[in-house]
Amino acid sequence: MLADKDRIFTNLYGFQGWDLKSAEKRGDWDDTKALIERGQDNIIEEIKASGLRGRGGAGFPTGMKWSFMPKESKDGRPSFLVINADESEPGSCKDREIIRHDPHKLIEGALVAGFAMRARAAYIYIRGEYIREAETLQAAIDEAYGAGLIGKNASGSGYDFDVFMHRGAGAYICGEETAMIESLEGKKGQPRLKPPFPAGAGLYGCPTTVNNVESIAVVPTILRRGANWFSSFGREGNKGTKLFQISGHVNKPCVVEEAMSITFEELIEKHCGGIRGGWDNLLAVIPGGSSVPLVPGEQIRTAHMDFDGLKELGSGLGTAGVIVMDKSTDIVRAISRISYFYKHESCGQCTPCREGTGWMWRVMERLRVGESSSEEIDMLYQVTKQVEGHTICALGDAAAWPIQGLLKHFRPELERRIAEREGGLQEAAE
Ligand code: NAI
Ligand code: SF4
Repeated sequence: MLADKDRIFTNLYGFQGWDLKSAEKRGDWDDTKALIERGQDNIIEEIKASGLRGRGGAGFPTGMKWSFMPKESKDGRPSFLVINADESEPGSCKDREIIRHDPHKLIEGALVAGFAMRARAAYIYIRGEYIREAETLQAAIDEAYGAGLIGKNASGSGYDFDVFMHRGAGAYICGEETAMIESLEGKKGQPRLKPPFPAGAGLYGCPTTVNNVESIAVVPTILRRGANWFSSFGREGNKGTKLFQISGHVNKPCVVEEAMSITFEELIEKHCGGIRGGWDNLLAVIPGGSSVPLVPGEQIRTAHMDFDGLKELGSGLGTAGVIVMDKSTDIVRAISRISYFYKHESCGQCTPCREGTGWMWRVMERLRVGESSSEEIDMLYQVTKQVEGHTICALGDAAAWPIQGLLKHFRPELERRIAEREGGLQEAAE
């Protein structure tokens, strides 16, 4: 279990104030100028050495992403850092806690990361429904400006750096990095084709890096305590500490910072008071937010909660939004509800996603009540394969994978419902 002294987010539960004075007492903004004076390349190398991988879901190496940003400005074009605070993945609620209780970690991280990638400003795109969080974040930004920590000659470093907050309007798809950029530009939030990646052509056509809130908020602590300290947690390729968000049928749902690669059993026993009704009552777990396939209860108990451990089980760490379902769950209904979510949130730009998400949800709804045939289960699988990998952004994959997980692990349950309904119809006819 992670020791308290190794926790980055020491105010995760809001026992202290979020304000600048309280943040400074926790060590934030402590000689930030010295961090900046280490120089851009040194900071990027330190983050690479720490093994930090993106905490928004995809797990792309953070230091490598920053190194894609140009060292020299072309035609005087500025570079930008965009911070993705549009946390909308069902099961995910960690960025919200950072913004509510530790906003200065994010703002200081924005300055240091922005400096490292030679950005002129950071835009924090916050989910529209996070109203109180947006108020806290804006107040913290104002405090940082007031104290000279950001803005002109930020923290006395000689570097000018602005931080702007932008509120979203409730569209899940705006969490996709290029849709977010479109939205920031004042357009309809629809994903762009990649490449070009944002580092080549991002916000207003300028070099841009989009990073998740947690990825940025951990940066000052990594630099202060050193890459070796951060990489001492977890396993090869899966380093550091991580915020896990555990919801559903555990005795005590929570958000907690733990070492990467902790086993599922330890995570649940140490922090959540165990599974509701005991381990024999565990049905399935969606370990990384709704976009990743479920894992049956009997397979996940000893799994390492990291990118590789969950990949081996055919799932993924995603945002580490861990949704626990016990045997009282109607698993077909749960996955059907997730299908509805993706159908509703599809931006409609590409045909496989626009048509496929609606199609998949309608079949799922019929399967839920057994109003289907075994052949249709195979057809549904084929439809998921037609959607997966054939769309502009990852929403298509995210809609297909949960259904694939259900078909892989719970096909007998679907067949049982079909047989039960057929039996019922036959009885009624007799
Ligand atoms: P991705 O794998 O396409 O990209 C990850 C990052 O690496 C992006 O910033 C991309 O620009 C960069 N990148 C990848 N290849 C690159 C290259 N060759 N050159 C330069 N940059 C490169 O994944 P994506 O679509 O950004 O994210 C999908 C993930 O987001 C899903 O796994 C899901 O778990 C997560 N997600 C999180 C949500 C949340 O609320 N936090 C909401 C929805 C999805
Ligand atoms: Fe839009 Fe879906 Fe295509 Fe993504 S995959 S661009 S959400 S239609």
